[in-house]
Amino acid sequence: MARGAWHCLLCCGVFLWAAYGIVPEPQNLRVHSDMLESILQWDPPNFHKENVTYRVQHRKDYDNTFTDLCNRTEVTECNVSRIQIYGSSFLRVRTEFQNNTSNWVCITFTPLADTKISPPDIQVEASQPSVLSVQLTDPYFIHNGARYSIKVFYSTVAYRIHIWKKDYSDKQGRKLNTSFTFETISGLEPGTTYCLKAQAFIEEFNKSGEWSEPFCIRTSNASYAGINPVLLILILPLVLILFSCCCFMIFRIYRRIKYVFFPSYSLPQHFKEFLNKPSYSSQFLTSQIQGEDYTYEKITILSEELKNGGKESEEQLNNAKQQLKISQEETYNLKTIQTI
Ligand SMILES: *[C@@H]1O[C@H](CO)[C@@H](O)[C@H](O)[C@H]1NC(C)=O
Ligand SMILES: *[C@@H]1O[C@H](CO)[C@@H](O)[C@H](O)[C@H]1NC(C)=O
Ligand SMILES: *[C@@H]1O[C@H](CO)[C@@H](O)[C@H](O)[C@H]1NC(C)=O
Ligand SMILES: *[C@@H]1O[C@H](CO)[C@@H](O)[C@H](O)[C@H]1NC(C)=O
Ligand SMILES: *[C@@H]1O[C@H](CO)[C@@H](O)[C@H](O)[C@H]1NC(C)=O
Ligand SMILES: *[C@@H]1O[C@H](CO)[C@@H](O)[C@H](O)[C@H]1NC(C)=O
Ligand SMILES: *[C@@H]1O[C@H](CO)[C@@H](O)[C@H](O)[C@H]1NC(C)=O
Ligand SMILES: *[C@@H]1O[C@H](CO)[C@@H](O)[C@H](O)[C@H]1NC(C)=O
Repeated sequence: MARGAWHCLLCCGVFLWAAYGIVPEPQNLRVHSDMLESILQWDPPNFHKENVTYRVQHRKDYDNTFTDLCNRTEVTECNVSRIQIYGSSFLRVRTEFQNNTSNWVCITFTPLADTKISPPDIQVEASQPSVLSVQLTDPYFIHNGARYSIKVFYSTVAYRIHIWKKDYSDKQGRKLNTSFTFETISGLEPGTTYCLKAQAFIEEFNKSGEWSEPFCIRTSNASYAGINPVLLILILPLVLILFSCCCFMIFRIYRRIKYVFFPSYSLPQHFKEFLNKPSYSSQFLTSQIQGEDYTYEKITILSEELKNGGKESEEQLNNAKQQLKISQEETYNLKTIQTI
């Protein structure tokens, strides 16, 4: 607070006119200023007389005349909150005893730069397992009976937030700066207790506010993933329906793939035509029903050869047809015997 010593000399230079030097001066002047509520304090002089009083005056740095703040006060402090907030002021005090006074003692005081800034109010919510939502409330000044956010008086208010795991030192952990009063801190461990504190920072004065008391909160457990039970009850049937649909679709796709890549055996075209002649087809069917596999095997070999094409295979086909005819007649005969 004892800044501007040169100004103070100017202000206290008045003592030359009132240099009685008989009454000692007040000692150790200081201003205690907290959110612009400012109290000037001093120590009493080494002067063992009764009814010693003090007089406190101030003037703006551009002003020439001093005005009284406290008159004939017997206590060693004076409420100086009334002085103008902007700019610097000179404050001076002297001891008065009967008709005699001491020299003035002076101090300069710049309310906005010198006052202590209270910590912001912190509210923290653990909404998701690894996220904390931090809501800060601006500290406020009470001036002339009204409440003002510090942002009314300072144009560059920012906040520093410090977060660390409980049971660890606050020197570890994370620090972040923000110019907003709402901040989400992510990337935290679920189900872990964190502590955090915050302070305001006023860039225009390179001035830090007081740190808040640590506020500790546990991040929510991972298993619930922050979903409330009511929502879970609504979502669960939906998930089940979706799951069944997926299963059905997968089954359909599987069937289709199987059909395209692994078709059940189908007969070649001309053989189908051959079978369409009613006399043979009924016999063929009969043989199939009775499970006479050896005739069927001959058909398989025939189809493979046909695929390769060529005139030779046509001859083979004719031979095969005859063979087939014979074998089918045999089958028919066998069947007839069995029936008999
Ligand atoms: C101090 O002031 C009181 C009244 O305020 C007076 O009665 C008393 O005599 C004074 N003492 C001296 C030493 O002047
Ligand atoms: C303070 O007291 C002096 C006399 O000691 C007087 O002249 C002055 O007007 C008083 N100031 C106030 C504000 O009462
Ligand atoms: C100082 O004065 C202000 C008004 O100027 C008042 O609001 C505040 O309460 C006073 N402080 C004390 C400690 O009396
Ligand atoms: C103080 O000054 C007044 C006049 O200014 C005078 O009447 C009085 O006697 C003086 N008192 C002392 C103790 O000097
Ligand atoms: C107060 O001043 C008067 C002269 O005005 C002087 O005679 C007297 O001794 C002084 N008293 C004290 C206690 O300094
Ligand atoms: C926050 O700001 C201060 C100065 O304003 C700076 O020293 C510090 O490095 C910043 N921290 C981060 C995390 O940006
Ligand atoms: C701001 O204040 C800090 C100490 O509180 C100091 O280290 C830093 O140099 C200052 N920055 C400026 C720009 O004055
Ligand atoms: C989180 O899990 C811990 C045990 O791991 C348990 O004590 C705590 O009650 C759980 N909290 C919630 C909100 O479910």
